[in-house]
Amino acid sequence: MFSFRIADKADVDAVFSLMEQVVHSLADPSLFIPETRQSLERHLKEEGMILLAEEEQLAGYLMVRFPGNAEDNLAEDAGLSAQDALRCAHMESVVVHPDFRGRGLQKLLLEQAERLLPEGIGFALATVAPENHASLTSFLRMGYSIADTKMKYGGKMRHIMIKKVTHTQDQK
Ligand SMILES: CC(C)(COP(=O)(O)OP(=O)(O)OC[C@H]1O[C@@H](n2cnc3c(N)ncnc32)[C@H](O)[C@@H]1OP(=O)(O)O)[C@@H](O)C(=O)NCCC(=O)NCCS
Repeated sequence: MFSFRIADKADVDAVFSLMEQVVHSLADPSLFIPETRQSLERHLKEEGMILLAEEEQLAGYLMVRFPGNAEDNLAEDAGLSAQDALRCAHMESVVVHPDFRGRGLQKLLLEQAERLLPEGIGFALATVAPENHASLTSFLRMGYSIADTKMKYGGKMRHIMIKKVTHTQDQK
């Protein structure tokens, strides 16, 4: 059974090495945009959070980003207003270790992350390559819909995924 926790600085090496392992094993590298170690570190606190899933070892992670008024905020792509842009979280990057795939871990990470979003966040946004079936299915099953499909990241086709998030009482 997976357990979940928020990463801190001591976890960055393990997250980075899982990401590198997965990137090197991708049949089609264009489906996944890797993060730099610096970007992972920035998302430990100031710009987001990294949620870890563990089962004796690191099984997967989801990096969440709060883009604020950054130029690459996906809000406009998703048809949201400038005001709503400030209420967006990006489900920026998700990876599951090959040994732990097929158990719906991406969905579990998305579900856990949603519960940890700050109260002011009203929308979760993401991009996914149309041919990344496991990731697309996970987002759709979690209640995301496709707001648009367009070129992103210097010429890569991506669905823009959006979900309106609601806050329940047990949220932080
Ligand atoms: C994408 C990724 C995180 C998904 O891992 P996972 O959570 O273990 O995914 P699962 O194998 O449990 O599959 C999730 C769903 O997709 C479905 N699926 C998996 N492969 C599929 C395929 N080739 N075609 C259609 N559906 C597929 C599964 O049946 C499951 O659907 P279900 O809810 O009906 O059971 C993992 O494959 C990964 O790390 N990939 C490399 C990095 C990556 O692409 N990240 C996402 C970038 S947006």
